[in-house]
Amino acid sequence: MALNERKIAFIGAGHITNIILDNLTKTEIIPSDSLIVSAPSKGKLQQLSEKFDITIAQDNIEAVNKADFIFINVPPQVTGNVISELSQMEISSNKLIISLAAGIPINAYSKLGNNIPVVRALPNPPSQIGMGIAALSFNTYVNDQQKSDVFELFGSLGEYAVLSEENINAVTALSSPVATYLFFQSLVDAGVRTGIDHETSTKIVYQTIVGAMEVWKQRQVSPQELLSQASTPGGISVESIFTLEQHGFRAALIEAISNGALKATELGDTVQNT
Ligand SMILES: NC(=O)c1ccc[n+]([C@@H]2O[C@H](COP(=O)([O-])OP(=O)(O)OC[C@H]3O[C@@H](n4cnc5c(N)ncnc54)[C@H](OP(=O)(O)O)[C@@H]3O)[C@@H](O)[C@H]2O)c1
Repeated sequence: MALNERKIAFIGAGHITNIILDNLTKTEIIPSDSLIVSAPSKGKLQQLSEKFDITIAQDNIEAVNKADFIFINVPPQVTGNVISELSQMEISSNKLIISLAAGIPINAYSKLGNNIPVVRALPNPPSQIGMGIAALSFNTYVNDQQKSDVFELFGSLGEYAVLSEENINAVTALSSPVATYLFFQSLVDAGVRTGIDHETSTKIVYQTIVGAMEVWKQRQVSPQELLSQASTPGGISVESIFTLEQHGFRAALIEAISNGALKATELGDTVQNT
């Protein structure tokens, strides 16, 4: 069965479901009448149905019954309840669960049956403009056709990377744009500190970042090589790099991502133990 013949259900009608529906309907990968949503708040469902012309299910069970692929897009704290609710029904092993619930491991879905195919997926915020990166982990029951459909689905949100599940929590930290935004803001502030007005500093930093990204994209070399090429011996760039290293710039970033990954693991454990 081709992806555009699949029925896709979304359990949960919040922020991430909105983003995915927006991308799927804009790219027209799936006809809108093959998209089904279920959530407690009927008002929210009505809004989604009007916005994307999609089907509303009476409840989660009906959504699962009608679909080939089922997104679980609910907060981690209620995922256990949703799994318990769905475990009351017979779920065919032809159906694919795509879990976005943060911190919930694939094996939490074993309650639904012995050989249910499950994908754990973690898209990041730039997915909202189709420029995201999603980490994907599959259990052994997902077949090649389902995998290829999942790649196409997440391709509508940007890029994707397949990882073993033990790395997913690290991706939560690594694919968050906050360190990048903090870096942008710090550079703008640095310009202002030297006496450049805020607007001009923002413009200079913005174009420097966009230009640097484009060079990286077009040249396809490592950042280390770009760093070397931009550093004239005894020059200004080398002095800036030396100062950043004196303040532990690299170590701070590496530790920030490692601590973020630990926090994601801790949160996942807390949710599972409650
Ligand atoms: N937002 C992101 O960018 C992002 C990225 C990656 C992963 N995630 C993960 O995706 C999940 C959802 O995130 P979100 O940002 O979309 O959250 P959200 O905006 O808070 O939406 C949660 C949705 O879950 C629904 N819900 C609650 N209990 C339910 C139940 N028993 N059955 C069916 N639906 C139920 C809520 O419905 P009511 O409003 O009617 O209660 C609401 O529509 C979370 O686990 C989050 O960690 C989010």
